[in-house]
Formats: sequence, structure tokens, C-alpha cells
Amino acid sequence: MARVLVTGASGQLGQELGIALLNDGFEVIKASHDLLDITNDNQVSQVIEQLDIDAVINASAYTAVDASEDNKVLAYAVNAQGPENLAKACLKKNILLIHVSTDYVFGKNTGKPHSVDEETFCEGVYAQTKLDGEELIKATKCKFLIVRTSWVFGRFGKNFVKAIFNKAKTDGNLKVVLDELGNPTPAHALAQALSRMLKKSLSADFNAYGIYHYAGSPALNRFEFAKRIVEISKELNLINSDVNIEPIKKADLNLKAKRPDDSRLDCQKTKEVFDIDMPDWSLYIGKTVC
Ligand SMILES: NC(=O)c1ccc[n+]([C@@H]2O[C@H](COP(=O)([O-])OP(=O)(O)OC[C@H]3O[C@@H](n4cnc5c(N)ncnc54)[C@H](OP(=O)(O)O)[C@@H]3O)[C@@H](O)[C@H]2O)c1
Repeated sequence: MARVLVTGASGQLGQELGIALLNDGFEVIKASHDLLDITNDNQVSQVIEQLDIDAVINASAYTAVDASEDNKVLAYAVNAQGPENLAKACLKKNILLIHVSTDYVFGKNTGKPHSVDEETFCEGVYAQTKLDGEELIKATKCKFLIVRTSWVFGRFGKNFVKAIFNKAKTDGNLKVVLDELGNPTPAHALAQALSRMLKKSLSADFNAYGIYHYAGSPALNRFEFAKRIVEISKELNLINSDVNIEPIKKADLNLKAKRPDDSRLDCQKTKEVFDIDMPDWSLYIGKTVC
């Protein structure tokens, strides 16, 4: 049975990973932030050196997009230096690193979903530090999969789906941005996909290391996404009152960090190499808000 270390194990994705990997027969060593700080190079190298493991999945990150603008040093340490520390330790042991990255590396609007080979363009500290993390991993020349995903939601932690549901249920009046297009991704499905990718990557003949995209389908803007969240919640009898959703522009929110207008991800390579389809995110809304 293969053994895998999951960092950031208490996060939204980390918790789902713990479950998905166990279900797929992996032995899982869960390291939450308090047990393993990925910014601590010595700790990372000692822990990975000592553990009898076949791979590391990094689900840890500094994900506070706006707060990153004021906390550049911390964001860089967690999103760039931390992944580099993990990659160096994995290289030393010759084991695989699976690292999760973001659609925010695509800040330029091209009018179509972004492919893995496409040029990146970062606006904002979070996006830039996540891209720096990718580059630092690549530079170590360890065996890696970098899996970019987008608009992650699930039963654990805070996310857009829960925020819309709670506001719709308690208030009934929402303002949601229209000019942000992307792919909602269920954390549950993402964890299952990462587990399948890990399994295949550990097979003797695998050598397709590199960058992949995994995200849910269909893509839509945040306003339409919020409308669907409310519709589905009504179908499931989780909301019974009237809800009014008003479309607004990103600029109206005066957020510190810029978000891409269109960060849709082209997931074709993941289909080709791993035979993994984009999940229908609408099937996961109920499990997220119940
Ligand atoms: N959420 C999204 O919409 C989204 C979209 C695209 C990509 N992603 C990527 O998906 C991955 C998982 O995101 P998520 O939504 O699961 O994020 P999350 O819920 O914020 O979880 C991140 C985890 O990382 C931990 N962490 C922070 N600093 C750490 C450190 N120095 N050492 C070890 N652990 C540390 C956090 O622990 P504490 O809370 O205790 O600090 C938390 O448990 C990240 O790489 C993120 O960039 C997320």
C-alpha cells in the first residue's frame, strides 16, 4: 500500500483529501499547519526524510486573496518558499510532489479557457506568489504534478457557495459580481481526482510529470453561479423564501486584490493523461450547504 503525506490537512481540500485517499486504499499521514509548517525548511526536510512515504500532496496555502496584498512576506513564504521546501525534500528522497495551484495565474482575458501551456499573467500578490511557487518547484527538478484548480467549494471551511447560501437564507438580498467568469470546483471531486492522479503517477511506467488543470463544469460567471446555488437550494427545500440577486461589477466591491475576468481552465490534458473528466459541480451544492 502506498503511503502519502498530506500537508495543509485541516484545510478545505486537505480534509477531503484525507478521506478520498483512504477510500482509495492509500495510507495517509495528515499534517495540519500546527504539526508541519511548510515554511520551515529544516522541519520539512527532517519530516520528509524520516517518513516512509511514496509521495507528498501539498494542500496548504495562504489563500486570503485580499489580505495577501498587506501580507506579502507571509504569502510568499507559504505559497512560494513552502512548496520549494517540499520539492527539495521530495527530490532528495526521489518521491513525487503533487502541488495544488490556481486559475488566478491567468489574469489576462483570452476569450477562451486557458490551457496548461498558455502564458501566465498575474495581478495581485496571491496570484504572483502561487505562480512563484510553481516556478520554484519546477526549478528543483523533482518529480511533480502541479494541478491548477479554481473556485473551490465543499463541506469543510468557508467558501462562496456557503456564503451565498447563508446570505440568501438569512437576508434574501444579494449583490454578486457579473464580470468574473470561471469554473466552480467541488473539493470532494478535486480530492478524488488528485487521488486518481497519484495512483497513476506512482505506476512504474508513468513519466508525464508537469502541469495539469482540473476544474468543474460548466463554467459561468459569479452572478449566474449564485443564482444556480439558490435555485438548487430551493429545489432541495433548503431555502423556501424569496431571494433577490442583483448583478454588480467587481469594481463596485473595492477589493484590495484584482481577480481575473475570465479564468476558465481547459482541462483536456487531464482527460488525455489520466482519463479524468470535469465534474458537474451542480451535483455537489446540496452536500456543501446541508
Ligand atoms: N479555495 C479556492 O477557491 C481555491 C481556488 C484555486 C486554487 N486553490 C488552491 O487549492 C489549495 C487548497 O485550498 P483550500 O481552499 O483548501 O485552502 P484553505 O482551506 O485555506 O486551506 C489551506 C490550509 O493551509 C494551511 N496552511 C497555511 N499556512 C501553512 C503553513 N505555513 N504550513 C502548513 N500549512 C499551512 C492552513 O492552515 P491554517 O488555517 O491553520 O493556517 C489551511 O489548513 C491551495 O493551494 C489553494 O491555493 C484554492
